[in-house]
Amino acid sequence: MKTVGKKFPKRVMRKASLQGKTVLLRADYNVPFENGVITDDYRIRASVPTVQKLLEYGCKVVIISHRGRPKGPESTEFSLEPIALRLSELLGQSVRFVDDCVGPKVRMAVKRAPAHGVVVLENLRFYAEEKANDPEFAARLAKDSGASYFVQDGFGVVHRAHASTSAITMYLPSVAGLLLEREYQAITGAMSHPKRPLLALMGGAKVSDKIPIIKRLIRVADQIIIGGAMANTFLAHRGHNVGASKVEPDQTAVIDDIYDLVHKKVGAEMADNFLVLPTDVAVGAHVDETARRRTVPVTQIPEGNYALDIGDASIERVVAAIDRSQTIIWNGTLGMTEFPHFAHGSARAALALAEHPEKESIIGGGDTAGFVIQWDSRHGESFSHVSTGGGASLELMAGQKLPGIEALLDA
Ligand code: 3PG
Repeated sequence: MKTVGKKFPKRVMRKASLQGKTVLLRADYNVPFENGVITDDYRIRASVPTVQKLLEYGCKVVIISHRGRPKGPESTEFSLEPIALRLSELLGQSVRFVDDCVGPKVRMAVKRAPAHGVVVLENLRFYAEEKANDPEFAARLAKDSGASYFVQDGFGVVHRAHASTSAITMYLPSVAGLLLEREYQAITGAMSHPKRPLLALMGGAKVSDKIPIIKRLIRVADQIIIGGAMANTFLAHRGHNVGASKVEPDQTAVIDDIYDLVHKKVGAEMADNFLVLPTDVAVGAHVDETARRRTVPVTQIPEGNYALDIGDASIERVVAAIDRSQTIIWNGTLGMTEFPHFAHGSARAALALAEHPEKESIIGGGDTAGFVIQWDSRHGESFSHVSTGGGASLELMAGQKLPGIEALLDA
């Protein structure tokens, strides 16, 4: 994977003296499961180079993470044990799992672990103190792990100010891991000094989730193409009848605002070339995988039908725009990719990017990353950067400061 360099403002583990130390490593192992089985291990894979590098330094690596939003330790279905097992397979070495993240069991396991040993602790969110950013809990995490350094590598969670992302940094010298540094460089580099033209492909369900990022992209991008269910809200705002498709009627003022910014940037007559909406959509009579795909112009969406993907002409427009661009930032799928008939737009966009490795392609947001990783037989290597972050990548793209990065030692 290539990265476009913007210097990371915080101290990085490559420059810290970690040799032979016990290190507390925060990862984001909040991965999807179905019937107790991991369905996408991308976040675990993405943490492996950091763990391996720490092992090369002769460290004892104690890993902490959250998984899901459990009520408490009784939510055993959110245990990190299966993740420890997967990590052990990926590392090719045994990994010790401890069914708590603080307390005597942790102290004992770390004491017994050899140098070059890896210990995974139980889900941090089994303690309410984690989300409360409780300093005493953070102090216990630091002390019971026996660590002398904290490495933050859970990019997907650095937009949260929790005990393991914020308060912990009061108790241990805290530096960034390899994944966090790479994510930051790729995303901020593409947003702040992209090779131009810069194309933004925006999709996903809701406009309301993406207002700050759309506003920032209006400033920095050369063209923005809107797809996904979000496009329905724009189309409805333009007076189109979108049938039974989901729209956010309360976003009218936001869309007015977006068009004001677009008009200021490119003028009213170029607005539709800069902020591009689908001209046709693929509709289904119902929302499930048996629905037949039918492409219709946006002016002719049948009553009672749902727009579930961009249409064939709009797909060609996306591919042509990718061809013309040097940097492509893609956030949000262009259709309902869980149904193969309505994954055409996203699959063609992924193909157009994968066929042009010379272009900088930055793919972020949980559903988009999940889709391209599944689509790509090279596990995401066909793109310049596939972010492990959902909310975190959106906030970083929007130019917001992330508490889990801010808390680290300055470079
Ligand atoms: C994510 O999946 O976005 C992160 O792991 C954060 O999880 P959260 O939204 O439950 O805080």
